[in-house]
Amino acid sequence: MSEVEQQPSLPAIDPRLADVIRGRRTIGAFRPELPPREVILAALDVARWAPNHKKTEPWHVVWLGPETQHAVIELNSRLVAAAKGPTEAESKRRKWAEVPGWLAVTCDLADDSLRREEDYAACCCLIQNLSLALWSAGIGTKWTTGDVTRHPELFDLIGIDALRQRVVGLIWFGYPAVTPAQTRREVESFLVERP
Ligand SMILES: Cc1cc2nc3c(=O)[nH]c(=O)nc-3n(C[C@H](O)[C@H](O)[C@H](O)COP(=O)(O)O)c2cc1C
Repeated sequence: MSEVEQQPSLPAIDPRLADVIRGRRTIGAFRPELPPREVILAALDVARWAPNHKKTEPWHVVWLGPETQHAVIELNSRLVAAAKGPTEAESKRRKWAEVPGWLAVTCDLADDSLRREEDYAACCCLIQNLSLALWSAGIGTKWTTGDVTRHPELFDLIGIDALRQRVVGLIWFGYPAVTPAQTRREVESFLVERP
């Protein structure tokens, strides 16, 4: 019997799954073409299997068309101009205008504070599922939570009621033009075992 065969069999992490999780990167520079609608819908169909306590399924997704994208870009430019000046605002406008795909993930605001926290966590799981599903199809994402995502005008633009929902993130998507490198701490640096 070979050495390999003598080893006790360990449950293995599916290497394709591990590759997708490890390989997914936040993408800041996209190629101009919009990925096919069917792929985005298929990724959302997978993403909805995110865990959610009490089965609240608290997420909503708004797909922003060109008109709404433009309005969000203008709103953001105004916010940046007020905070940092016109040069920075123009640079953001140009950069944001290059993003091909825009989704807003929003979350129901429960009355109960614990439920709110858990619902937010569930929406974050949905976003991660979505990002991984898209990555497996060669599509990159950037989850953004800048000031614009909390601005009342943004809520109007994407058609949600600020008293009933919050924005968990604007999710940019498209084919990566550049895939950056990243690092993570080793497991030993955050795992503590107790008897
Ligand atoms: C809740 C949340 C909010 C984020 N908001 C932003 C953001 O506003 N702008 C940004 O450039 N990246 C944002 N990111 C992406 C992180 O910067 C990114 O995940 C981190 O740099 C690690 O890179 P990686 O995703 O490629 O591993 C956010 C990520 C999370 C989870």
